[in-house]
Amino acid sequence: MTRDGDGESGSAASDDPAASDDPAASDDPAADGEFGATDPRRLRRIRRGYDAWARVYDWFARATASVGGVRAACVDALALDPGDTVIEFGCGPGVNLPALRDAVGPSGRVVGVDISPRMLDRAAGLVERRGWENVSLVEADAERPPVAAADGVLATFVTSLFPDPYAVVRRWCDLADTVVLAAFVPEGNRLANAALRAFVALNGRLFDARTDDPLGRLADRTAAARRALDDHTGVRERRRRLLGTIVVEAGRDR
Ligand SMILES: C[S@@+](CC[C@H](N)C(=O)[O-])C[C@H]1O[C@@H](n2cnc3c(N)ncnc32)[C@H](O)[C@@H]1O
Repeated sequence: MTRDGDGESGSAASDDPAASDDPAASDDPAADGEFGATDPRRLRRIRRGYDAWARVYDWFARATASVGGVRAACVDALALDPGDTVIEFGCGPGVNLPALRDAVGPSGRVVGVDISPRMLDRAAGLVERRGWENVSLVEADAERPPVAAADGVLATFVTSLFPDPYAVVRRWCDLADTVVLAAFVPEGNRLANAALRAFVALNGRLFDARTDDPLGRLADRTAAARRALDDHTGVRERRRRLLGTIVVEAGRDR
């Protein structure tokens, strides 16, 4: 296991105001909100929030890992072959790592990228316990990818944290043949949407800028990520899961 904060990435998680300053294709209204795409306070807040909740999040994510078959569907959609390289952006405590490692095998490579050191500590513990030598963890900003090329990119429940998901996902499309995203969407029945609204509001208070319309912001950001896949990949696939509250989006070059 390699924990590499400055190898491929050049630097650890960044507070650089230019971190995601990409003027092109920024069509998310939230990008101009309390924490804009270039605001270093935003990354600090997210890192602090996830650091503080890493242990609880790890427990929760592992306990719910198979719910709705979401994570399995994501890895399936990546269509990885043995020997491939896959990057997981916002890997958190590493709940997807076992399936990714299985898919690429001992000759492949898995790179987990996250901005929260405590989340990466949890993931590193898993890598060490499993004795994986081809899984590396990089502390870096996923909005400025620290890796130049890969066969696949995965990001589960991460894109809604970016003020400008279109710009970020477009960059990911440039670096990989296949990009798979899982995100919450308010497309379920009334009860499911109400539960999602409460969850997203709490999430916003803990990790993101506050908003009067958390569900609207979630929908806007998820739609922006989807548009980036539409515009920058050739073959698209969309699967709804868990009563329509989660969508798995895949984009492939061909
Ligand atoms: C909701 S958790 C999802 C974790 C994991 N993907 C999963 O499905 O369990 C979001 C993760 O994204 C990370 N994150 C948020 N913004 C990030 C950024 N700009 N760069 C890298 N990681 C980021 C957080 O630290 C956190 O670990």
